[in-house]
Amino acid sequence: MSARTKPLLSVLNGRKAEKTPIWLMRQAGRYLPEYRALRAEKGGFLDLVYDPDAAAEVTLQPIRRFGFDGAILFSDILIVPHALGQDLTFVAGEGPRLSPPLVDAALAGLEAVPQRLEPVYRTVEKVAAGLPPETSFLGFAGSPWTVATYMVAGQGSRDQAETRRLAYRDPGGFQAIVDAIATMTVDYLSCQIESGVEAVQLFDSWSGSLSPAQFEKWVVAPTAAIVSALKARHPDVPVIGFPKGAGGKLPAYARETGVDAIGLDETVDPLWAAAALPRDLPVQGNLDPLALIAGGEALEIAVGCIISAFEERPHIFNLGHGILPDTPLLHVEQLVKLVRR
Ligand code: CP3
Repeated sequence: MSARTKPLLSVLNGRKAEKTPIWLMRQAGRYLPEYRALRAEKGGFLDLVYDPDAAAEVTLQPIRRFGFDGAILFSDILIVPHALGQDLTFVAGEGPRLSPPLVDAALAGLEAVPQRLEPVYRTVEKVAAGLPPETSFLGFAGSPWTVATYMVAGQGSRDQAETRRLAYRDPGGFQAIVDAIATMTVDYLSCQIESGVEAVQLFDSWSGSLSPAQFEKWVVAPTAAIVSALKARHPDVPVIGFPKGAGGKLPAYARETGVDAIGLDETVDPLWAAAALPRDLPVQGNLDPLALIAGGEALEIAVGCIISAFEERPHIFNLGHGILPDTPLLHVEQLVKLVRR
């Protein structure tokens, strides 16, 4: 099947679908017993990510079980800092650790190790060879701002305060970090595309913590630079931007970054978005992951509101952020049925 006939790619190319295509962020992961089994066998999360056979298997697990319209590469946004030369570990129950944290170490002290990205391209090749013909294949990376918040603090943080402070205190030094991430990200996404992904998503999970002026500088500008560099190399590959928490700044993001589609988090009112965003812009989202856990009537009502709000434009059904580990499998099955009804 081609970009014209695969349902998800067709919507990303601006065509309205008869049946709304669906995939879920973090659809490969801990809510699946088959993921937990393979993860236990392989050891750590990064052992899965850097093993192309295992990562390809994990990518395909939710497709086999639920028949989603899109498969998303199993990897992580923090692979890019690892390739930029930081040490990366995942501490059980605590999340990622990157060292040295850049808040007190210069970027110049890092030596890039782009070979660390190679196993990911092998994973892409394996998945591309194993996907059903109607399933679209999505690659991804983190956006420079979100990736920088981890590189600077050396770990996740509630309000990204260290990074926001560094961006004010030393805008030149911080710009160098953002530029290094953006350059690596363009190469990384280009290689994913050349290995077989058909569209890419930029995850900007922490874009909501910035003031409007800082949002322009650290979210809009680097995203626009990445989109334009990718378009120069791969003009036909759609880019989905997902600026989580951007709220009222979404129309500016849509106008100024050049993304082909926009992901909406669950705090965005679908009726507002339908009216505020450019009329033909494809949107993706935006079910509350907790409504999926609740199931039943609450789920039916929430799904109905989203589908009807976006009836008049190209729409891909998704959650507003990643699926939670305690999500019942039965509810995911029901969701797919509801969306395709
Ligand atoms: O969507 C998918 O199914 C593709 C795979 C994917 C993962 N992470 C796998 C993963 C994607 C697209 C990501 C993106 C990602 N990673 C983001 C942006 C989106 C978001 O959730 O905000 C961020 C901020 C990260 C960084 C990250 N990775 C953190 C903070 C953590 C630890 C917290 C947690 O949820 O466990 C991870 C680990 C991670 N990435 C897991 C998975 C399946 C859990 C690993 C495990 O314990 O098995």
